[in-house]
Amino acid sequence: MADSQEYMKQERFAEDIVKEYSTKDLIVYWNPKICSHPGYCWRDLPDVFNPERRPWVDLQAARPEEIIKTIDICPTGALMYDLPEGSKVDPRMARGPGWVHFKKSEPAVTRIKVAKNGPLVIEGPSEIYDAGGNLIKKYHQFALCRCGLSLNKPFCDGAHFKQGWKEE
Ligand code: SF4
Ligand code: FES
Repeated sequence: MADSQEYMKQERFAEDIVKEYSTKDLIVYWNPKICSHPGYCWRDLPDVFNPERRPWVDLQAARPEEIIKTIDICPTGALMYDLPEGSKVDPRMARGPGWVHFKKSEPAVTRIKVAKNGPLVIEGPSEIYDAGGNLIKKYHQFALCRCGLSLNKPFCDGAHFKQGWKEE
């Protein structure tokens, strides 16, 4: 069940401002600091996720089950969801990678994928440290900037996409 306080206290989000959107059936969280804007969400459900609109998330624009399926494909974990008490959504279909309490089975190795004309996508338990050796974030999913244009390094902030960066 929903426990926003617990979610906000996770080490990964300790210093981030996580936005919350809710209806009686669904709670959605969005962490702008780790959103790399490849746009899977707004391409999949443009009526719900519309970066040109404020607020950019409208949970009334689709069924909660559809929103859950879309959030499950967010590659960075910037979007997540939970079910509030009394939600009419079947909890069995709300247990995917975007669920706040999802426990990813740990792969034997952490995978680093090079996204074409985009970031390095880290999949697997990882700790990211700054140049002074201080832990910045600890999680199992990140997109790290490869183009050098991000204003939120070492994380990708979508600048590669907005500025049309192309790898050689
Ligand atoms: S990173 Fe997630 S929240 Fe950000 S644009 Fe992509 S799919 Fe949407
Ligand atoms: S790779 Fe996305 S901002 Fe640099």
